[in-house]
Amino acid sequence: MVIFLIGVVRITAKADEKKIIRIETDNISLIYGTNKDGRLYQTYLGQRLHHDSDAVHLPLMGEACLTHGMEDYFEPAVRILHNDGNPSLLLKYVSHEIRQLQPDVNETVIRLRDDVYPVEVQLCYVSYVKENIIKAYTEISHREKKAVTLYRYDSSLLHVMGEKYYLTEFSGDWAREVNMTEQPLAFGKKILDTKLGSRANMFCSPFFLLSLDKVAEENSGEILFGTIAWTGNFHFTFEINQQNQLRILSGINPYASEYSLAPDEIFRTPEFIFTYSTEGKGKASRDFHRWARKYQLKDGEKPRLTLLNNWETTAFNFNEEKLATIMDEAVKLGVDMFLLDDGWFGNKHPRNSDKQGLGDWEVTTAKLPNGIEKLVQEASKREIKFGLWIEPEMVNPRSELYEQHKDWVIRFPNRKEYYFRNQMVLDLSNPKVQDFVFGIVDNLMRKYPDIAYFKWDCNSPITNIYSPYLKDKQSHLYIEHVRGLYNILERVKQKYPDVPMMLCSGGGGRSDYKALSYFTEFWPSDNTDAVERIFIQWGYGHFFPSKTLAAHVTSWGKQPVKFRTDVAMMGKLGFDIRMNEMNLKEQEYCRNAVKNFKRLEYVIGEGDMYRLISPYRSNHAAVMYVSENKKTSVLFAFDIHPRYGERIYPLRLEGLNPNKIYKIKEINLLPDTKSILACNEQTYSGEYLMKVGLTVFSSAHTVSKIIEISQNDIE
Ligand code: GLA
Repeated sequence: MVIFLIGVVRITAKADEKKIIRIETDNISLIYGTNKDGRLYQTYLGQRLHHDSDAVHLPLMGEACLTHGMEDYFEPAVRILHNDGNPSLLLKYVSHEIRQLQPDVNETVIRLRDDVYPVEVQLCYVSYVKENIIKAYTEISHREKKAVTLYRYDSSLLHVMGEKYYLTEFSGDWAREVNMTEQPLAFGKKILDTKLGSRANMFCSPFFLLSLDKVAEENSGEILFGTIAWTGNFHFTFEINQQNQLRILSGINPYASEYSLAPDEIFRTPEFIFTYSTEGKGKASRDFHRWARKYQLKDGEKPRLTLLNNWETTAFNFNEEKLATIMDEAVKLGVDMFLLDDGWFGNKHPRNSDKQGLGDWEVTTAKLPNGIEKLVQEASKREIKFGLWIEPEMVNPRSELYEQHKDWVIRFPNRKEYYFRNQMVLDLSNPKVQDFVFGIVDNLMRKYPDIAYFKWDCNSPITNIYSPYLKDKQSHLYIEHVRGLYNILERVKQKYPDVPMMLCSGGGGRSDYKALSYFTEFWPSDNTDAVERIFIQWGYGHFFPSKTLAAHVTSWGKQPVKFRTDVAMMGKLGFDIRMNEMNLKEQEYCRNAVKNFKRLEYVIGEGDMYRLISPYRSNHAAVMYVSENKKTSVLFAFDIHPRYGERIYPLRLEGLNPNKIYKIKEINLLPDTKSILACNEQTYSGEYLMKVGLTVFSSAHTVSKIIEISQNDIE
C-alpha cells in the first residue's frame, strides 16, 4: 500500500509483501528489505545499483537493527530493559517514509516496532545526493507505563562484506593528535571509544576509515569513511563474526550511561555520517569537504579571518602596551584580526597562570586597567578586528565562581578532588549553569558589541564524575552534559549568528561535525612545529576541509619561517609569533604570504583537495587544491627529511583539465630570491601535468614550495 502525502511518500506494511527501501546518492546505494518474518534486513551497501529490479535478488546481510536477547550472538545496536524485567526486543517493519528536505537532500524514516512490547525504533537516514554523504540516526520511544532502561542505543549499524578489512584510526594525545594507523581486522572486536566526557577526542578522534580487501589507497579501492557528530563519549565497534562478516556499530559510548527513558520521551541518537567510495580515499575526502561546506559547517561557504594570536609569545604575561604593540604587528602582517588569548580575566584570583581565575569572567583591572573596551578601540583604530579567548565550561577551584557555586561543579560531595590542568568541569546538565555559560558570551557581546570572534576552549576532560544536579540519575551525566552544551551553543548561534568562533580543546580535543555546526573552524593541535603539522593537517584533512583547520605560524619548530608559513597556508592561515623573531625579509615574505592566501583562499578553502604524496610513506609531502572550474590550483610541496642521495621523482598532479594549458608559477618566494624550479613560468597541458608531472621536490631538508597553476587564457 502506498500513501502519498504532500512532498512525502509513505509506504506501510501489508502482510507478506516484500518491501525494498533504497537510500541513495549519485554513487552509493544502501538497501534494506523486509523478509517473510516481517523483520528488516540490510541487503546492500556499496557502489550505486541502478536497476530497481535487481534489488529482489540481493541476499540478506544482517538485520537492520540488531537487538539484545533474540537470535543474534554478537554485538547489538539496541538493548533495553522493560518494566517487567524482560530484556528482549524484536523489531518488525511497520512503515517507511521518504521526503525531500531540499533539492538533492532526501530523508528516509523507517518505523520498526516490537510486537510484544509497545516499543518503537525509527531508523532515520538523510542522503546528500550530489556529495554522496549519508547521515544515519535512530529514535527510540515506548508507551510502557514507566520508564524503560536503555543500555545500548547506537546511531547506526552497518553490515559490510569483504574478504579482508583494514581499519585506519586517528589516535594520539595532546600535541600529537590524529596519528593515522592502519591495521587489518580479524575475528572479534575492535573498539575505538572515549570516556573523557568533555575533552572527548584527546586520545582518539571520532572518525575512521575502513578499507575493503586491501590497504587504503588514495585513488582506488572501496572504502568507507565514518564519523560521529557528538561532542562527548562515542564508540565505534567493529566486529567480525564467524563468517568473516563485519558489522560497524557507531554511537554514544554506552559506558556508565544507562539511560532511563520516560514513556513520553524520544531518545534521539547523534548522527553517524558516512560515505562509501569506490575510488579510494581521495574521493571520499573531497565528498566530505564539499558536503561540510555546503550543509554542516557554520558559515561553511564564507571566507575565514586571518589573525595574529598572542598565546605562544606572551602566555599570561601581557599588559595593554604589549598588546598594542602586537596589534601593530598584526597591521604590518596585513591580517584581519588580533586574537587575545588566555589570561585577561579574574580579580580576586587573577588569571596569571592556569592555576586560578577560570570562571571569573571580569577583566583583570591590574593588568588591563581600561578593560576590553580599550583593546577593542585600539584594534578598531588600526582597522583590524578583535577576537577573544574564553573557556566557559570550566572552573578553577581557586576562583570566586567555585567559592560561590560549588553546586555548579561536577564533583563528588564526599571525596577529595583531583584536577586536570588545575581545573574542573561545570555541570552543563543544570539549566542554571547553561544560563551562566551562555551569559559569559552574552555579557561580553552586550558590553563590547565589536568583539568579532571567540576562541572557545575546553581544557579538561570530565573528572570527579558526579553531577549535583542529576542526583539519582548519575548515569545520564555524560549524555545530559553534551545536550546542555548544545543548548548553550544553539543560543549563542541564534543570538550572534555572525560571530565566527574557533573550537579549541587543549589542542584538538574536540573535532566533530556536530560541534562544527556551531564553529567556523577548530584548533587541530597545540603542536605547531611545521613538520608535525604536516602530519596533523594531513590526518584531519581526511574529513575536514582546509578552511576549518586553524593553522598558525609560531616558533615551536625551528624550520625556516617560509617553511612554517607555507605549511600554515594549507589550512586557515594565522600567526602567533612576534615580528622581532623574524628578519626584515622574512617579515616582508609573511606580508606577501597573507596577500597570497587571501587571493587564493577561494581555491585553498573552497576547492577540491588532492593528496599527492603522503608524509607517512615518503620523506616529502604534497597536497594540491583545485578550484571548482579547474582554472586555478595551488600545489604545496614539502621536502621534509630526505635521505642522502635519495632519488627525486617527478610529481604527478591531479584534478586538472587534461585538455587545457596551464602556467606554472612558484609563489611565496622570499624577497630577492628566484624560483629554482625548471618548470617555473613554463606552460604545460593538464594531461602532461597529470601523466608526466613536474620536478618540484629536492633533496634538501625542510624546504617548501607553493606553486600556483592557472589555466592560460591565451592558448
Ligand atoms: C589551550 C589551547 C591553547 C591556549 C591555552 C590557553 O591549551 O589549546 O591554544 O589557548 O589553552 O590556556
